[in-house]
Amino acid sequence: MEKNIPNHVAIIMDGNGRWAKKRGLARSFGHMEGAKSLRKALEYFIEIGVKYLTVYAFSTENWNRSEDEVSTLMNLFLKYIKSERKNMMKNGIRFYVSGRKNNIPKNLSEEIDRLQEDTKTNNKITLNIAFNYGGRAEIIDAIKKMSNADIENLDENNFSQFLYNDFPDPDLVIRTSGEFRISNFLLWQIAYSEFYVTDTLWPDFDKTEIDKAIDSYNKRDRRFGGVKNV
Ligand code: FPP
Repeated sequence: MEKNIPNHVAIIMDGNGRWAKKRGLARSFGHMEGAKSLRKALEYFIEIGVKYLTVYAFSTENWNRSEDEVSTLMNLFLKYIKSERKNMMKNGIRFYVSGRKNNIPKNLSEEIDRLQEDTKTNNKITLNIAFNYGGRAEIIDAIKKMSNADIENLDENNFSQFLYNDFPDPDLVIRTSGEFRISNFLLWQIAYSEFYVTDTLWPDFDKTEIDKAIDSYNKRDRRFGGVKNV
């Protein structure tokens, strides 16, 4: 039987630190390996026909990590943007970043803006990177954007135009490394998303693991609060 492929997959890429620790390596090696894992996962999601991939790369709470680790993650993102530009243009990847733009180093935010602009008409997949992102911050920032007229006309369907993006809600949320919590990720958008948790650490999350997540998604009976049609 043909598989039902989710239109939008969102991932909490957890476990880079544990992956490194298990090998007696510094946490930064785990993040570097995590970036490779993202590259491969993106390729496979394109192949199977996923249209939106959102990944949690840096949360508003991640500033509490050591200065060293924060700067590793900033540098890694900058490197990722520079090294993936060609691949994104060639493979029709639209690059987008969701999150607060303040606090981010100027050169990084300039590269983000440039790549977003250059890839904006690419239409094979949208790679939405949640960076300096918090779900609560996103809701607060949305409210701050609204005028009085917007508030008067506000409803559940038009609220998303004030969020960091207006992409369709995720169908499937994946969390690696076994924790069953949402960690301030996409609080508004996941109202009816299916959830899949695996013990696999993010750097080990490969095609086989993606297939398992999609298979599990295919067994779900999505009712969006309604009743099952029999
Ligand atoms: C969680 O693992 C992961 C992060 C906080 C960062 C995610 C970043 C990447 C996958 C790097 C590549 C992505 C980009 C776009 C640069 P953790 O450090 O919390 O792991 P632990 O829970 O095992 O300590």
